[in-house]
Amino acid sequence: MYFLGIDVGTGGTRALLLDESGSIAGAATEEHAPFASPEIGWAEQDPEDWWRAAGVAVRRALAGARIGGEAVGCVGFSGQMHGAVMLDAADAVVRPALIWCDVRTEAQCRAFTERVGAERLIRLTCNPALPNFTLTKFLWVREREPDNWKRVRSVMLPKDYVRFRLTGERAIDVADASGTLLLDVAARAWSREVLDAAEMDIALLPRLYESQAVCGRVNAAGELASGLKAGTPVVAGAGDQAAGAIGMGIVAPGAVSATIGTSGVVFAATDRPALDARGRLHTFCHAVPARWHVMGVTQAAGLSLRWFRDRFGAGPDDARDPYERLTEEAARVPVGADGLVWAPYLMGERTPHLDPNARGALVGLTASHTRGHVVRAILEGVAFSLKDTFTLFAEMGIPVHKIRLGGGGARSALWRQIQADVYGHEVETVAAEEGAAYGAAILAGVGAGRWHSVDAACAEIVHVESVIAPHPEAVALLGEQYRAYRRLYPALSQVFGGQSPLSP
Ligand code: XUL
Repeated sequence: MYFLGIDVGTGGTRALLLDESGSIAGAATEEHAPFASPEIGWAEQDPEDWWRAAGVAVRRALAGARIGGEAVGCVGFSGQMHGAVMLDAADAVVRPALIWCDVRTEAQCRAFTERVGAERLIRLTCNPALPNFTLTKFLWVREREPDNWKRVRSVMLPKDYVRFRLTGERAIDVADASGTLLLDVAARAWSREVLDAAEMDIALLPRLYESQAVCGRVNAAGELASGLKAGTPVVAGAGDQAAGAIGMGIVAPGAVSATIGTSGVVFAATDRPALDARGRLHTFCHAVPARWHVMGVTQAAGLSLRWFRDRFGAGPDDARDPYERLTEEAARVPVGADGLVWAPYLMGERTPHLDPNARGALVGLTASHTRGHVVRAILEGVAFSLKDTFTLFAEMGIPVHKIRLGGGGARSALWRQIQADVYGHEVETVAAEEGAAYGAAILAGVGAGRWHSVDAACAEIVHVESVIAPHPEAVALLGEQYRAYRRLYPALSQVFGGQSPLSP
């Protein structure tokens, strides 16, 4: 028997098959059309494209593993969080989905916060109103496109739309639901008070499940599109952050991951809904019953380096990977980049500033700095930004016993060492760093009864591959540099028009 994880990401949908020993039997990714950005700060995708990509990815993964759909015992989902999908009475998509990185809703955030009260909102949902969160996107559509909103009969998140097409069920897990601002995260139930304040009918929302719970079965249309067999059970799954954490074994208090993809996320598992009173971290349900997690998000982590590579990274045309060339140049530069500091606010910032209008900066330039200095400053600056979340964890008493690295930031030897030195803590990499689809497949395996719990599955199949120790002199030097980094945001906000409008 095999377990299938389907991760509906932003760039593409990935399907991954695990066998009963927990080894990867096959995987395939089908790209999505790039998201549309008709205005600055907008990001929209067509849900039909996710469904198309899921069918292609699942068929290719099955072919790669040389198995038929009947060999799949259970399916689990993960996906980009926060996106707003709206369906009409005939279950047709009303308008393109507003996805997670769409930040057009600052006005709705402010109005809703005023209406409910900042403190009360954090008490009800464990989180403040941020433009990334789904409810604020519905409020925008209701206000700005009333004709569209009038047609809406049900709403869901991106992966749940793909599940709906595969099974006909409207379902969601508590982990992904946490990013909607409609969930009472502490009680793991929809918040009647928030729904009332938003004047939204609970009947619009999908049914809530724990992540490993079976919530539907593949139907005939799903079989036709995917090659899976009708009747195959489907578990609820999780948002990509919680699913990715499971894939890295971040399930119990003390375990923390630092993942640098396009965005950067520091994620800690907790046994209580740990709150920052100012809402600078996200407090969400974990994909494990009776556990939660806190996470801080850097909007432009890997994106900082990609931006630099695309705009300034040209080098000799020697067919080498430009990332490799750039990080080699950075590795020749001393720790601390001779005083150069990067503030990675290319897309505004979430943690800790909650400021969609924050702007990036490269500070401390002298005539002797080279391109290698700039690249090192970017790698260090992104790590400083992730360290801001560790600083908040320390203030909140969140234990940090082990740190596991994920994403592109775990694949570069230099960035791994920089992270160990900036966090001042040993960091680990895991053997199968396969991201959220892997976590979704583990949830499917738990749902099918192959493992009796997520903890048991992780203990059996997630293995540490390498451990990187911090260098004491680098820790001291980067500690100094971090103090300089912390002074940048207040100084920059003087230049760019004041502190965040959303910070409570
Ligand atoms: C998490 C978040 C992103 C998306 C991207 O809060 O916004 O990580 O889930 O896939």
